[in-house]
Amino acid sequence: MTALPLSSSLIAQLRQICGTANVITHDDPGADLSPWEQDWRKRVRGRALAVVRPCSTAEVAAVVKACAAANTPIVPQGGNTGLVVGGVPDGSGAQIVLSMTRMNAVRAIDPANLTLTVEAGCVLQNLQAAAENAGFLFPLSLGAEGSCTIGGNLGTNAGGTQVVRYGNTRELCLGLEVVTAQGDIWHGLSGLRKDNTGYDLRNLMIGSEGTLGIITAATMKLYPQPAAQLTAWAAVPSLESAVQLLGLAHQRLGPGLTGFEVMGQFALGLVDKHYPQLRVPLWQDTPWCVLLENSDSENEAHARSQFESLLEAALEAACVSDAVVAENLTQARSLWRIRESITLAQAEEGLNIKHDISIPVSRIPAFVAETDALLAREFPGVRMVDFGHLGDGNLHYNVQAPAGADEKAFLRDNEDRVNTLVFDQVLKFDGSISAEHGVGELKVGKLPLYKDPTALAMMRAIKQTLDPQNILNPGRVLG
Ligand code: FAD
Ligand code: MLT
Ligand code: ZN
Repeated sequence: MTALPLSSSLIAQLRQICGTANVITHDDPGADLSPWEQDWRKRVRGRALAVVRPCSTAEVAAVVKACAAANTPIVPQGGNTGLVVGGVPDGSGAQIVLSMTRMNAVRAIDPANLTLTVEAGCVLQNLQAAAENAGFLFPLSLGAEGSCTIGGNLGTNAGGTQVVRYGNTRELCLGLEVVTAQGDIWHGLSGLRKDNTGYDLRNLMIGSEGTLGIITAATMKLYPQPAAQLTAWAAVPSLESAVQLLGLAHQRLGPGLTGFEVMGQFALGLVDKHYPQLRVPLWQDTPWCVLLENSDSENEAHARSQFESLLEAALEAACVSDAVVAENLTQARSLWRIRESITLAQAEEGLNIKHDISIPVSRIPAFVAETDALLAREFPGVRMVDFGHLGDGNLHYNVQAPAGADEKAFLRDNEDRVNTLVFDQVLKFDGSISAEHGVGELKVGKLPLYKDPTALAMMRAIKQTLDPQNILNPGRVLG
């Protein structure tokens, strides 16, 4: 008898565990692995040994045990909408992609405990719908919600547009079920709001980008649905004015303030160029627009009068130059659609150098003024695609090549220097080089330069302890 090569015997084992149809390789006739191998922004195209699609926690555990025995790295993947190249395989052809999308069931809803337990591969929009059908709100919301999964949201500790009120994914999670690097199952699906029995493993797993364990299910918090929700769009004369408006909105709306997004003129111009049917309001005569959302627990009339008095005060203080309040849900959705189309419009325009940074809100205007000037001096003609979650101090500060320049050549020649300039500024302003997208592979080289060395040493020690073989998403987060 001839022995099978190690990779073939692993594939045979994985097929036994998950079924032949759920282990896809390049050798399968007609197989196209590109949806799993190519990242959303098309920055990297990897090559997988196989794509494995388990349908239960037991299958995930068995897959991990088999891969650990064969010393084969595993890249967990949800909806593959990540923006930092964290969920696709490298180019070696030696890693398996563990696609979680078949594990998508809502396991339980506990209305009295205000919790919902769901499998990791559930698409965020389906989770939101399950909560709504049960009469509740699951507030996590982001442009990719039609295809990202809750496992990916937990893996990246995603933020989105409701963080100013509800926090990011970490704050929405009470319990996890996780398969460890050894293929053991941690049954941590607690719906407890209080549990001080030692180290917080849940919060360690959340945001670890698939490098410490594979999340198979989670217990998430539910909230009451608001009685009314209103959306406004305001033109503001400067970023300082946007910060002033944020202060007024906190004062006047209190916990009703559920969204506060800022959008620069060039970013809105890209939406207008690529999606003219969306009819972007007020953008041509102002450097910045703000999208605000007021969620009210009383009724629509109360929400409207609160909103109107906020905008009147803002107009009087001259921090708003013009504003519209959506008359109905359809208009509100159209305004949100404009905001959520910025990423897609950027992708249509071509590659740019993305920065997902956080800075204390109070210092954002000074950061932008100073960094814009430095960029203009070092890279004349660059255009800034700025937008983001100003309510959380999270700016998407993206650098587009000068008009008419070849953007691929611009990235090739300048990306590292642009990143260094921007991240040095982030450090100077006490910020973070990743607010919500994570580190992935894109920022792995920069992290040691901008993160506290003691924190990095503790992170390395944790990784070494939990995954001594380094088989879970190697090369991501920590190089
Ligand atoms: P993937 O891309 O598949 O994976 C992301 C990371 O999580 C990888 O490191 C992967 O290995 C790991 N992972 C996936 N599943 C698991 C699991 N079950 N267990 C352990 N690790 C896992 N992000 C924001 O934070 N805020 C936004 O507003 C936002 N808007 C976006 C808008 C658009 C149009 C797009 C394309 C992306 C946006 N993103 C945003 C980024 C992205 O959607 C989020 O990072 C999202 O959380 C990724 O989910 P996913 O299921 O696609 O994960
Ligand atoms: C957003 O806020 O729309 C996202 O984080 C996506 C992006 O930065 O492009
Ligand atoms: Zn964002």
